[in-house]
Amino acid sequence: MSTALVILAAGKGTRMKSDLPKVLHPIAQAPMLVHAMRAGAVLDPERTIIVAGHGAEQVTKAAQDFDEAAEIVLQNEQNGTAHAVNQARESLSGFEGDVVVLYGDTPFVQPDTIKRMLAARATHDLVILGFEAADPARYGRLVVTNESLEKIVEYKDATKAERELTLCNSGLVACDAGLLFELISQIKDDNASGEYYLTDIVELARAAGHSTSAVTCDESETLGVNSRADLATADAVFQKRARGELLDNGVTLMDPDTVYLAFDTYVGRDALIEPNVVFGPGVTVESGATIRAFSHLEGCHVSRGAIVGPYARLRPGAELSEDVRIGNFVEIKNAEIAEGAKVNHLSYIGDATIGAKSNIGAGTITCNYDGVMKHQTTIGQGVFVGSNTMLVAPVTLGDESMTASGSVITKNVEDGALAIARAPLKIKSGFARKLFELLRAKKAKSDKGQN
Ligand code: UD1
Ligand code: MG
Repeated sequence: MSTALVILAAGKGTRMKSDLPKVLHPIAQAPMLVHAMRAGAVLDPERTIIVAGHGAEQVTKAAQDFDEAAEIVLQNEQNGTAHAVNQARESLSGFEGDVVVLYGDTPFVQPDTIKRMLAARATHDLVILGFEAADPARYGRLVVTNESLEKIVEYKDATKAERELTLCNSGLVACDAGLLFELISQIKDDNASGEYYLTDIVELARAAGHSTSAVTCDESETLGVNSRADLATADAVFQKRARGELLDNGVTLMDPDTVYLAFDTYVGRDALIEPNVVFGPGVTVESGATIRAFSHLEGCHVSRGAIVGPYARLRPGAELSEDVRIGNFVEIKNAEIAEGAKVNHLSYIGDATIGAKSNIGAGTITCNYDGVMKHQTTIGQGVFVGSNTMLVAPVTLGDESMTASGSVITKNVEDGALAIARAPLKIKSGFARKLFELLRAKKAKSDKGQN
């Protein structure tokens, strides 16, 4: 059966005290909204509709960066969760299948949980996701009698007895599209908040003879974010879970709590990650690679057996083949480094390719930027680049060529050639000793003068 996701993301999030819409605040370097979209993607939805309001333009961009096909509907006034879902009515007219409602500010719902909700739809017309809350606070409460979900009451409208209930509403709903919009049409705003509550659909469904059910999940999945403190907590929860997954998959983390992961970090089995490594988005590290302490990686790929760091920086487009060595204080950007090549010390390699087994000496810089445009450096196989070589791009070093230390290379170097570009060396015998004597005498004279 086809499914449509409707993700509510119109709220302002006043307590974030931010110009950025709440759902775009990042957890593990992806907007919260994208976390919700990723979880929903497990259903392979035919349609994904984002209900946007505050910061709709930015929300649209973030949603479509993740999924080009995501559709945006606007909710100009935030009149409640039912009113929000109702904004998708027109887009979904004619859609046959299930609608699953997610919240953009509830990023941790697990894909399996969403699957369980859909599985429960096989036997029930309307499925709600609930959770046992340690502190139910102001969540909506699920009223269940004889194992059957009767209704949801919002905290503000609940009786004292209902407030004692600990089974709470997460906000997620799975329902046939036709039935959902039929029920929403009947919802009124005659409640303590004067809003259209999506939660009212349960009682309305029951009254019309439909079957309802509550699927439950662990409270940690329903963690919502309303403040910066919540955001920090959510990130910590994410990190803990993601580190645990890496360890379970056979990755060694020497000091797990100091490794910062992105939402999509992939590390293969038997890789070793030393302390204080930061992963930005889009990193894959293959089996058996080593990332040494204090390295920073984003948008890059590290192949088997490669060793990176300590103190290395891999920026987007860094593509390291097997057994490559990237050492301390080396920055690599948009560059392919072929098998067994080494860039071990204090270098910048940007917009470049380096052939297999080439050795790049300490302090080498690819001068890729002329102030206006970026240019490419091509280094062949088995090349030896002497320390402190400046490669002024665009430039090519042929296979098995060499550059002399300290050279500024401004022309292509053919295969097998040696390029030297530096001022000729002069050696003046005894000159240093004489100069020292002269200077020391001068200093002694001036010291005397001061006494
Ligand atoms: C809602 C539920 C409550 C549940 C809680 C779980 C209702 C009436 N209440 O309450 O039972 O326990 O979530 O967190 O559904 N939104 C819009 N447009 C609106 C209103 C809300 O897009 O007009 C979005 C918000 O941006 C947010 C989500 O819907 O992502 C939930 O809204 P929120 O105001 O946080 O609802 P709660 O009062 O927390
Ligand atoms: Mg809320």
